[in-house]
Amino acid sequence: MLTFTGHAGFQYETENTIILMDPWMSRYGAFDQAWYQFPPNHKLGDEIRDLINITEKDVYIYISHEHKDHFDIPYLETLDQSEINYITPKFRRDHVVKKLTELKPKEVYALEDSSKFTVADLDIYLFVDDNELNRDSGIGIVDNKSDSTILNLNDCKIYDRIPELINLIGKVDIFACQFSGAVFHPVAYDYPEKKYAEISKSKVEGKFGSVKKVIEEIHPRVYIPSAGPPVFLDESLFHINFQESNIFPSPLIFRDYLHQNLSEVEVCVPVPGTNLIMNEEGIDITHPVSNPEELFDLNTLESYQSSVKAILKERKDSTESYDPELIFELLLKELKSKLLDFKITHDMEVVLKFSINEIADKAIYIDFNDLNIFSDSVENSMGPNNIYEISASAGDIGRLLDGYQNWDDFMLSFRHKLHRTPDVYQVAINGFLVMEKEDINAFCSNLMKLENQKERITVEVGGVDYSIDKFCPHQGTDLSAASVEDGRYLVCPKHRWMFDMEDGGKAIEADATINAVDLDGDGS
Ligand code: FES
Repeated sequence: MLTFTGHAGFQYETENTIILMDPWMSRYGAFDQAWYQFPPNHKLGDEIRDLINITEKDVYIYISHEHKDHFDIPYLETLDQSEINYITPKFRRDHVVKKLTELKPKEVYALEDSSKFTVADLDIYLFVDDNELNRDSGIGIVDNKSDSTILNLNDCKIYDRIPELINLIGKVDIFACQFSGAVFHPVAYDYPEKKYAEISKSKVEGKFGSVKKVIEEIHPRVYIPSAGPPVFLDESLFHINFQESNIFPSPLIFRDYLHQNLSEVEVCVPVPGTNLIMNEEGIDITHPVSNPEELFDLNTLESYQSSVKAILKERKDSTESYDPELIFELLLKELKSKLLDFKITHDMEVVLKFSINEIADKAIYIDFNDLNIFSDSVENSMGPNNIYEISASAGDIGRLLDGYQNWDDFMLSFRHKLHRTPDVYQVAINGFLVMEKEDINAFCSNLMKLENQKERITVEVGGVDYSIDKFCPHQGTDLSAASVEDGRYLVCPKHRWMFDMEDGGKAIEADATINAVDLDGDGS
């Protein structure tokens, strides 16, 4: 039986084994209490803890990657570790394995990409995506006894590898993957309302289209929309839940979209406690409440917020204890040490301006052209054409520097404001902000490797053959699996970056190119 445990979490239980996947159950939410599970699943977390205490079955917990809405250490710490085996990918950075080992469980198994791991009647495969800007994985469970297969990609966008996955695990009965957004663009950017809505709408449409394509390829008996969206209960973020247009659509909207565009696939919108039992006739689905759709009602958020009021208040009180001037100096020191290993050899004509909300007259500037970092008065600053601006409160930065959150968490907390001129994505700046200082070196060499690789492929777009860089400049996905839109754009299958073939392969909204060369001469 497969049980949905909330967000990206599932429990698969057989006669001898219980496998939990990404149990995010903590009342502390994730990313320093910025994101919360929706619908709430904390009670189910207590029940799972009790089950682990009494079960005679072998317990395995799969952790897909390090993001806190998947790797919930505060919750894991409440479980009886002597009963638990962990499964997680063997990433080049061993952070997850290290943290799991510190919990002193029965065992930690770090699995290679696509290798088979057998537990009783189950064959388990992890599908790993490991590049320095992103580490993630999905899981395939083949139950040889009931002859059924589950593929749970959560938020791992290995859409370009679907044929290979199917080849390995065979037909898929139940498929789960993310359908909503989970990044800080455009959420944390200070766009005018109309532009914010347009960007959000286009991102949602793109994501819906990509996931629909993947479902078509996999053709499962049941598809489960999962891995988000979260809700935001902190008072500084609460308004996000009620925006008319953002990147967090309800799963009910995606279900309706699939009904209209892919009616042959059954869609199960789960709530914590929804059970799916596979049998010869089909898949029986039961929900823990008579009307599960009611649980997605945003009008219930105020009472959800009250239920974690004390936790949120404790955090707020802590943010008020930081001295802005001291935080400014500590932030300068932290950014200096990040910059030491930042070795990008191409020109970066961009300045990063980092300011603290409580300090109006000065900011920290990093000129990436000569890797110079300094503090300066805002009035004296050079006002360059290429500038990336970030600002946050001293309290939120203080909690980052004090280790309540890492840089990736901080960026995903949406508690900062961003502005960029021109409004294009820059891989290197993004990497500089989200990486920990010990990861910057590996990130830079990976990015340089990607930019220096010379492998080329030929694609046909709009009836014209083009020679292009084989790998996407964003995160290195093989563009052989890219699709074509509007007869001129090549679309990367992973995060849907679009490359305009009639403009030399330049990315739309990103400072990157796939260096397209028209092999037919003039493009006609
Ligand atoms: S790898 Fe992200 S868009 Fe291509």
